[in-house]
Amino acid sequence: MNPQDIKEISSVWTHATNIMVDHAEGCWFYDKKGNKYLDFTSGIGVTNTGHCHPKVVDAIKKQSEKLLFGQFNIVYHQPVIDLIEELKPVVPAGLDTFFFASSGAEAVEAAVKLAKHATGRPNVIVFNGSYHGRTHLTMAMTTSKTIYREGYSPLPSGIFVTPYPYSYYYGWDDETTLAFAVKELERTLLGQSKPNETAAIIIEPVLGEGGYVVPPAGFLAAVREICDKHGIMMIVDEVQSGFCRTGKFFAVQHEDIQPDIMTMAKGLGSGIPISGIAYKRELQEKWVTGTHGGTYSANTMACAAAAATVRVMKEEKLDVNAAERGEQLMSALRDLQRTYPVIGDVRGRGCMVATEFVKDGQPDAGTPKAVIAAAREEKMLMLGCGTYGNIIRWIPPLVITEEEMNEGISRFEKALKKVIG
Ligand SMILES: Cc1ncc(COP(=O)(O)O)c(C=O)c1O
Repeated sequence: MNPQDIKEISSVWTHATNIMVDHAEGCWFYDKKGNKYLDFTSGIGVTNTGHCHPKVVDAIKKQSEKLLFGQFNIVYHQPVIDLIEELKPVVPAGLDTFFFASSGAEAVEAAVKLAKHATGRPNVIVFNGSYHGRTHLTMAMTTSKTIYREGYSPLPSGIFVTPYPYSYYYGWDDETTLAFAVKELERTLLGQSKPNETAAIIIEPVLGEGGYVVPPAGFLAAVREICDKHGIMMIVDEVQSGFCRTGKFFAVQHEDIQPDIMTMAKGLGSGIPISGIAYKRELQEKWVTGTHGGTYSANTMACAAAAATVRVMKEEKLDVNAAERGEQLMSALRDLQRTYPVIGDVRGRGCMVATEFVKDGQPDAGTPKAVIAAAREEKMLMLGCGTYGNIIRWIPPLVITEEEMNEGISRFEKALKKVIG
């Protein structure tokens, strides 16, 4: 039976493919029929250390034999201490206190709850194109596509939206876009959410689901300045951009910015569900003990997997590899752009790269959809993103070699040729 015909599986999930995967290693999936697929999705930024990295698998095996679960409201355990020790030197300076949960949405919820307690204020400002999760609060904070909210109203109130500085979309240079977005953020504080009612401004330092957009240099600093001026918490959501994805451990580190709170998930656990927030110690006393938590918070197995994951990232310098492979990728894509003008823009940081498709100056969703399908025939898995669905996002595992990157680019080119001719 084909998996898509199993009626007992909820139809609420979308599926990019009907592949029944059997096992995986590094950048490759293997199905039950013996087919081998090049994975350029990394489970939406999860398998940064590659599928089944032996050191992560080993840590999981060893921990499972010792202590499968030590509920963190009841006991302390070593894996959480190990994880914090691994994280401390790599998170942005000034963040020295940690809380762990399971999913990215839970990390965002935790960050907002902390910001509310720290400031005593109710509102949150998000950026247009944002994606922060699927819970009711994070749905309300998500503006990348209406499908994520459709039919679920009423959503929690107190969320206000301001433009993300997306130069290619506006058709402006970076300087103009930056000035516009700063002005609009200031206007949001004048017209929608008064500073003394604004607990936090949350930003993806590279916009993810909304289109893989790198903000102009200086924008994160401008947000920091506005937050400082008004006593607002600056939250950076690194759920997708974190863990070496952009060529540094965290995308915010491309600029010398200290957020108050940072969310993390996905790449942290190599596939074992774990998320967290890192925040400034001075906020600690304001977050009232017992007002937040969860059964699987600081989960023992997940912490062991995450500590091993971060260790592997340091040992194998995955930040450096992401930067080098990203340059290789963007240079090849810019060459392809000259042959295929339907690729309107190539942009990104490290291995978080977008190819945005346009036809007659308008977003073109049809071509990337067809190219992703053709790439699947070439046994390469890719994903789209963007509000208009006109972007192919490049998000391979960060253990990818130069040869594997070339292989991926060549399969993509074959797919492009098939679709465009
Ligand atoms: C920036 C960002 N924040 C939050 C989330 C939600 O994470 P999760 O799906 O683990 O709840 C995502 C998921 O794609 C994300 O990209």
